[in-house]
Amino acid sequence: MDQSRASSQGAGRCLAKPDASVYQERHTRPALIASRNPPLTSSPAKPFLDVLGGQRRSTPPLWMMRQAGRYLPEYRKVREQAGGFLDLCFNPDFATEVTLQPIRRFGFDAAIIFSDILVIPYALGRSVRFEAGEGPRLDPLDTPDKVATLARAADFTVLEPVFEALRRVHAALDPKVALIGFCGAPWTVATYMVAGRGTPDQGPARMMAYRHPQAFGAIIDTIVDNSIAYLLRQLEAGAEVLQIFDTWAGVLPAAEFRRWSVEPTRRIVDGVRAKVPDAKIIGFPRGAGALLPGYVEATSVDAVSIDWAAEPGFVRSNVQNRVAVQGNLDPLVLIAGGAALDRAVDDVLANYAQGRFIFNLGHGIQPETPIAHVEQMVKRVRDWRG
Ligand code: CP3
Repeated sequence: MDQSRASSQGAGRCLAKPDASVYQERHTRPALIASRNPPLTSSPAKPFLDVLGGQRRSTPPLWMMRQAGRYLPEYRKVREQAGGFLDLCFNPDFATEVTLQPIRRFGFDAAIIFSDILVIPYALGRSVRFEAGEGPRLDPLDTPDKVATLARAADFTVLEPVFEALRRVHAALDPKVALIGFCGAPWTVATYMVAGRGTPDQGPARMMAYRHPQAFGAIIDTIVDNSIAYLLRQLEAGAEVLQIFDTWAGVLPAAEFRRWSVEPTRRIVDGVRAKVPDAKIIGFPRGAGALLPGYVEATSVDAVSIDWAAEPGFVRSNVQNRVAVQGNLDPLVLIAGGAALDRAVDDVLANYAQGRFIFNLGHGIQPETPIAHVEQMVKRVRDWRG
């Protein structure tokens, strides 16, 4: 990030008044340091933002997808107090607490606001329920007639607790730790809205996209517009980086991937940057494989999060040469632990840490993961000097 981009940041955002000075000060400093130093630096600013801004760090910044979750006893305790999962997301006390828990325990370089990608359908007035042990349940939106009844604009007042939690986390975080806001990519959110639940291969959404492309396109358009508004509000509330989760990108044929995954994501990135030109955005098109370079090119994201099946040589020469890469330890090896875990961590570092890199998992951490294994991983990454 250069200085002119940094100064346009303050001007471009509609800042909530009380936060403005703190916000600008905290965002401008890393950029100033970045512009004075050569690419490899050990500056104390925010390692995570440094990498997104174009630098390589000798020890890569580190966080984990789904880092606040059921593998943590302190999360399970708050989760129980909250009652339902959405009651946890929509209570700023609880959401702030569980967002900070993994930072306190492991000292990660980034906190991700505790919420869910399905709060957008919820704010659009769809019924969204999380049933114990079963995952999300929505009312299926699987015919053109039903799509005709879909609200165009979300009611963002129901998401106010998420923005409040962002403000509180932003105020509480150590200045070295970055704060990530997020949304689901339109394709992935639509798969849950159409089927009303998670399915192994997203057959219902793929079928609807073939049979009723116009109605399916209307769902996608609605998610695009509301995701732009949602992400902008998250930036206003203190998010410094945005991640767009496209968990189900990998089930689409190439042409459908471009139409339903890449293009709507590009519109979100463009829509956010039309208001905040230097917004830092990470894309996670899980399973995109050989289509990753095209995704990066078309969407203009600052970084991509890669899953564990990515081919390192291909990613280095076609993706990491353009943007920062984040990933990609297999969450299962984090459950396995031992020598296999050490080897896998070393492999990830050897594969990617010579370039712009953020250490992460290839997908979310699983509830049965032992905490000692996370500690083992963190230590190994932090002890590494590339
Ligand atoms: O990363 C974090 O720590 C922030 C919180 C976060 C959650 N969901 C909390 C959550 C984030 C970033 C998400 C994103 C999300 N939600 C995605 C995309 C990323 C991914 O993991 O694929 C998707 C597809 C969803 C939809 C969703 N939410 C599903 C399929 C489920 C059920 C599966 C499960 O893990 O239970 C959820 C529930 C959910 N979202 C939980 C958490 C911590 C578990 C609910 C609980 O505690 O009971």
